Amino acid sequence: MKGIVLAGGNGTRLHPLTLVGSKQLAPVYDKPLVYYPLSVLMLAGIDDVLVITRPAEIDLFRRLFGSGSRLGMLIDYAVQEEPRGIADAFRVGADHIKGEDCALVLGDNLFHGAELPAILRRAARKLRGCVLFGHRVTEPRRFGVAETDAKGDLVSIEEKPEHPRSDLAIPGLYFFDDTVTGIARDLRPSARGELEITDVLRVYLAEGRADLVRLGKDITWLDAGTPDSLLDAGRFVQDVRHRQGTNPGCIEEIAMDMGFIGADACYELGAGMSDSPYGQYVMERARAHHRDPAPTAFLEE
Ligand code: TTP
Repeated sequence: MKGIVLAGGNGTRLHPLTLVGSKQLAPVYDKPLVYYPLSVLMLAGIDDVLVITRPAEIDLFRRLFGSGSRLGMLIDYAVQEEPRGIADAFRVGADHIKGEDCALVLGDNLFHGAELPAILRRAARKLRGCVLFGHRVTEPRRFGVAETDAKGDLVSIEEKPEHPRSDLAIPGLYFFDDTVTGIARDLRPSARGELEITDVLRVYLAEGRADLVRLGKDITWLDAGTPDSLLDAGRFVQDVRHRQGTNPGCIEEIAMDMGFIGADACYELGAGMSDSPYGQYVMERARAHHRDPAPTAFLEE
């Protein structure tokens, strides 16, 4: 399965922070925001990823991740000239996907929870069209909203509805089969001029090929698109780091746990940043892996 991180957009809600910089490169505690969505794809087992950015920032992302080989991955880059909507990712990324299944994650979404890797890998495995997720929120009006019937099956999807039919928001993470590029190609822009991801999801729903997976309370979902939510995300990661001793979004550790790289390579990546607490954490995880190479509990199903 291929992966796409959509990391363009205007980030107007973060002006002036995003006037000359990318939202997805803004710091969330000890690492750039984009590490978190990338790590979600990695936890799903995806090692071939396209990062889509604004034209002005593609080289910054390239400098950050290179070819991906350090992480045992293939990471490629593409430019979205204008923010034409989330579903535009499948037009920009059509050559990357090339007839394979694909997971799309928005570059400002952060997910965390012990059950997450198992949920992601189950979703990728049982794909029979598309999988979207549902997470209870207090203000569904700000999101795409999923409505389910008494059996919990998906019956409708609405984009930022004035009168939401449920409190199940749809987070920025989706799995699609290989028909998604054709669906996106035929899509018409919405009234606000964007290629809407909800319109893609609705095509799958109409064909009876859309599955909703609920993310329970134990899964944290944050969208770092506003000053407050960006700061909340940083505080959340700091809290996990200090209280649980783990480090959400640590791509070197995840690359090692997923078997993309070995513990020695992971250690070297940490050693290259050994002045920072992040680098020291990576080295410590590699040392721990040497002592006990069994998969981390969270990777077992
Ligand atoms: P949004 O938060 O909806 O848009 P934005 O990032 O431009 O922010 P604002 O509303 O403050 O102007 O986008 C969600 C994610 O998707 C974010 O990571 C940016 C990305 N995105 C693109 O890369 N291209 C697009 O055309 C759109 C609409 C979003």
